[in-house]
Amino acid sequence: MKKTSLWKDDAEASSYGTLQENWNVDVAIVGGGITGITAGHLLAKAGKSVAVLEALQVGGGTTGFSTGNLYSIVGEQLQKVRSKFDTETMRAVVASRTAAIEQIENTVHEFAIACDFHRRPWRLLSETQDDTSNLQKEYEACLDAGLEAYIDSAAPLPFTISAALRIENQAQFNPMQYTKALAAQAQKAGCAVFEHTPVIRIQEGSPNILYTANGTVTAGKVIHATHSPKGVKAVHALLGPYREYAIAVKLNSGNYPEGIFWTILGTSHHSIRSYTSRSGENYLLVLGEPHKVGHKKDNEICFQNLETYIRARFDVKSVEYHWSAQNYKSADCLPYIGAINQKSGVYIATGFATDGLTYGTLAAMIISDLILGNENPWSKLYDPHRRNPLKSAGRFIKENVQVFMDYMKDMPYQAEAKRFSAIMPDEGKVVEIKGEKFAAYRDEAGELHQVSAVCTHMKCIVNWNEEEKSWDCPCHGSRFKVDGQVIEGPAIINLPKMEAYNQQ
Ligand SMILES: Cc1cc2nc3c(=O)[nH]c(=O)nc-3n(C[C@H](O)[C@H](O)[C@H](O)COP(=O)(O)OP(=O)(O)OC[C@H]3O[C@@H](n4cnc5c(N)ncnc54)[C@H](O)[C@@H]3O)c2cc1C
Ligand code: FES
Repeated sequence: MKKTSLWKDDAEASSYGTLQENWNVDVAIVGGGITGITAGHLLAKAGKSVAVLEALQVGGGTTGFSTGNLYSIVGEQLQKVRSKFDTETMRAVVASRTAAIEQIENTVHEFAIACDFHRRPWRLLSETQDDTSNLQKEYEACLDAGLEAYIDSAAPLPFTISAALRIENQAQFNPMQYTKALAAQAQKAGCAVFEHTPVIRIQEGSPNILYTANGTVTAGKVIHATHSPKGVKAVHALLGPYREYAIAVKLNSGNYPEGIFWTILGTSHHSIRSYTSRSGENYLLVLGEPHKVGHKKDNEICFQNLETYIRARFDVKSVEYHWSAQNYKSADCLPYIGAINQKSGVYIATGFATDGLTYGTLAAMIISDLILGNENPWSKLYDPHRRNPLKSAGRFIKENVQVFMDYMKDMPYQAEAKRFSAIMPDEGKVVEIKGEKFAAYRDEAGELHQVSAVCTHMKCIVNWNEEEKSWDCPCHGSRFKVDGQVIEGPAIINLPKMEAYNQQ
């Protein structure tokens, strides 16, 4: 079994260089996922000088670890959007997401991108009678949102369901192939793309200056296309970071179902789809088991649960891939897209939950319109400074504070050990010595790696993630390697290496 995403394994390596000198551009984009690359392409096509700075490789963040489904509805369900806002807002969300899917489809056709893009039906399935009333309510919300929706009593799957909500003409693709191919088009349009170029400091002002190890980029505008914006931003108090798990299996029968299938079984939700790799191999993907970042130690159980779930419903021959990835939920169900600082021209695109291939594309459309001075029908809807007219300000703030308090209440302020000798090989623990907290990991060879356990973002204490061998922050989702290097999240500075007072 490979411990990586199917998309990543099925993609050819890209070979953009690292930044080696100082640049001056109209727009600097931090992050080369679907959001950053789409924005880079749109802005370069419109004549702006643009540079995309990517810490890893194009599509190497969450984009390359997603499911590759494109749908006009949202994962949290349309009824929730309506309850938090109103029917008009719900319709605007669906219209904007439909436009983003069309943008992807048009791009695929314009550049003949081989990314397995297909229009497919989307289905929400209830596995028991208990969940059918929720399905019925969502069906009504879909109709009110102008979607052509149906309720079916069966679905093309080898297990029994009680009902299915179906919407035709949604889509699926390979998100990695799409983003990589679009990066090549962006470059042709004049957008500079740099890989293995982490931005280590952002100085906001007029102009903005982005610092990397080997050069700076000076820019009139900056887009944080990093999934969660970098550095300390007010929006982080309104974002909930979650990790979710995926496996890709092969089936004995060879009957791989076509389409997007979301299943509800009590409180558990799963997403199922098939994919044919570039070499013609078929796979069935199943995703689920979400939890708050930094709140689960024994993550291996999440993969086992997924395997148990899918083996009970399909004739699984083998599990070929497993991976996990992160998403950020907003406090009011809608992402935050737009300027956070008009004066210095700083833009963010975050809070996509698990709907961000579509929302990321939409964010790129909105932000590029804002930068180009074009009208965009949805810029106000997703404005990071929006106010929710249906809720009193007090309730809105209370709800958002509650989101933050939920994270805080489970935070392990207590260190797990007082001595390094308590750490077994291949184990990580927070050790407190003389009032200082160490994030210490002993590798399989017995060598100890210790860094500060204090998150460099806003000073929460990191937690050990056994499955990923990483230090994860429960507050806003920053993750770090055992040597302290930032993997993802809002932190921009690595956890400093710590000299152990002793190795006991
Ligand atoms: C398990 C899972 C399944 C999902 N499935 C779907 C789906 O089916 N459909 C859907 O619409 N959405 C899905 N999503 C959500 C979607 O994948 C994301 O919302 C989307 O990929 C976000 O794209 P992005 O470009 O904004 O972020 P990313 O793809 O994460 O790109 C951000 C980039 O910024 C880079 N970066 C970070 N820090 C720095 C730095 N300091 N300097 C330079 N670069 C930096 C990262 O390396 C990364 O490549 C899923 C999410 C998860 C977790
Ligand atoms: S991610 Fe914000 S404090 Fe760690």
